[in-house]
Amino acid sequence: MYVYNKVLSNLVKKTQILRSISVSATAIHVNEDSKHQKSWRDIPGPSTLPIIGQALNFILPGGLLYNRKADLAHILYENYGPIVRVEGGVGMSPIIFLYDPEVTLNIFRNENDMPVRPGFDVLEYFRKHHYKRKDNPWEKTTGLITEHGEPWKKFRSSVNPILLQPKNIALYTDALNLVADDMVKRLRSKRNENNMLNTKFNAEMTLWALEAIGVVALGSRLNCLDTDLPKDSPEMRLINTIHYVFMLVEKLDFEPSLWKYFPTPVFKAAMKCFNEHTKLNEYFVEKAVEQLKNNANKENEKEKGILVKLLEIDYKVAVIMASDMLFAAVDTTANTVIASILHLAQNPDKQNKLREEIKSKDEKKQYLKACIKESLRLIPVVGGNFRKTTREYNVMGYKIPKDMFLMFANQYLCSWDEHFPRAKEFLPERWIVKKGDPLYYGQAHPFVYSPFGFGSRSCVGKRIAELEMETIIAKIIENFQVDWVGPPPVPTRTSIVNHLIKPYNFTFKDV
Ligand code: HEM
Repeated sequence: MYVYNKVLSNLVKKTQILRSISVSATAIHVNEDSKHQKSWRDIPGPSTLPIIGQALNFILPGGLLYNRKADLAHILYENYGPIVRVEGGVGMSPIIFLYDPEVTLNIFRNENDMPVRPGFDVLEYFRKHHYKRKDNPWEKTTGLITEHGEPWKKFRSSVNPILLQPKNIALYTDALNLVADDMVKRLRSKRNENNMLNTKFNAEMTLWALEAIGVVALGSRLNCLDTDLPKDSPEMRLINTIHYVFMLVEKLDFEPSLWKYFPTPVFKAAMKCFNEHTKLNEYFVEKAVEQLKNNANKENEKEKGILVKLLEIDYKVAVIMASDMLFAAVDTTANTVIASILHLAQNPDKQNKLREEIKSKDEKKQYLKACIKESLRLIPVVGGNFRKTTREYNVMGYKIPKDMFLMFANQYLCSWDEHFPRAKEFLPERWIVKKGDPLYYGQAHPFVYSPFGFGSRSCVGKRIAELEMETIIAKIIENFQVDWVGPPPVPTRTSIVNHLIKPYNFTFKDV
């Protein structure tokens, strides 16, 4: 199997290293002699067993990671310090957790211009080897989430100007405001006599997120916010498959699994789910392409979705990117909005301050942006940034070979007072106060806070996500006083996409 070979090639190559880059807190220097470096296998970490790796630590009472109350990165740091080795067991590569932002910076500066983010192997496998269609769009390149090397670089360079230029994205402000107005109407209509929703807030926000990315990516309304959207509608099915894709990827690529050796039941379920997901994406993208043919005279830039602009470059790039946008933009933005609303509900003074800014129609939206940044600091969508090394490093005296998986524990670092004073508190002000103020965000090392990732491989949807989130949060706070009732929320579930665990005890009182 292709992936099996890939995993083998991911395993450490015991080659003679003549020159290596040594990373230290002060400088990078070339180390001619690597014999004094310790092996990465000497890095401290939880005990591991052949084949099953960490499994017992997770499943046996008394195991380090059993029924854990704290975040994994936190437990590992408390037990082993600033560099930790976690062996994966069969089907998984070992991962080195790093907690030193200066080391992170040096590694990132030394990576080549095609950084590799591991994960999603099973989706890559599906796209490259499983999906059968005569005109398979992924024949040459599978898109940004799953592609690496030159094909990734070529793809990314072609879409960057369209997806990341602020002036291109600002064109969608009016359309996103209309979506947000509809969402507010919908929330209003879903309240009971206590101003609580009689539907689930996370389900509501994923509907909003799909509708919002629909207008940006495809240039058309999907009508996800219709009150009588059937459960088996393509919109609902797409949302359900997106959650399911993340869940299956987590099971197959982030937990021990034998799928790279034989097709396990979860792997078979994944192939079925990815197929369904792909078909639904195709349905929406092809429908949008058809609509475009019929409205070929749409001259107004504001009405043109990103798809039109991508089609001007290349049909397959357009189809792949539009599909990946429908996938990557839903759970990510929905969960960040939920986390932001939670922080505002728990901090009524900040909520009032934000409402004042919204009412003032201040176009800078400084406080709104600060609230989102602060929420992403406390509950980021992803807890850490992941890379596969493209060269060898000497990290803290250990030889880290090429092709090794590194995890930078950003979320955990963001919870340290030494980086962000009063780190546990929701203080949007830290993103606004001037240099010299004890709260000033700039005192943190620049590689501590990084919710959208790093460098050339960072989130290509960042600008879109920011605009979407600003629009909906502003509309919700402008229209409702949001409170949280009852016991405090259960902490977040840390997974590929962090999310709050239900119930969502919000009340939405008209302002
Ligand atoms: C709050 C919202 C979002 C957050 C926090 C977020 C975060 C991230 C992060 C951390 C990465 C990995 C970056 C790295 O490895 O350096 C990423 C990659 C990516 N994101 Fe987002 N994302 C969000 C929304 C979106 C949206 C709205 C889209 C689409 C319009 C999107 C599309 C992508 C794609 C395609 C990649 C892969 C980029 C590549 O490898 O070249 N994301 N995102």
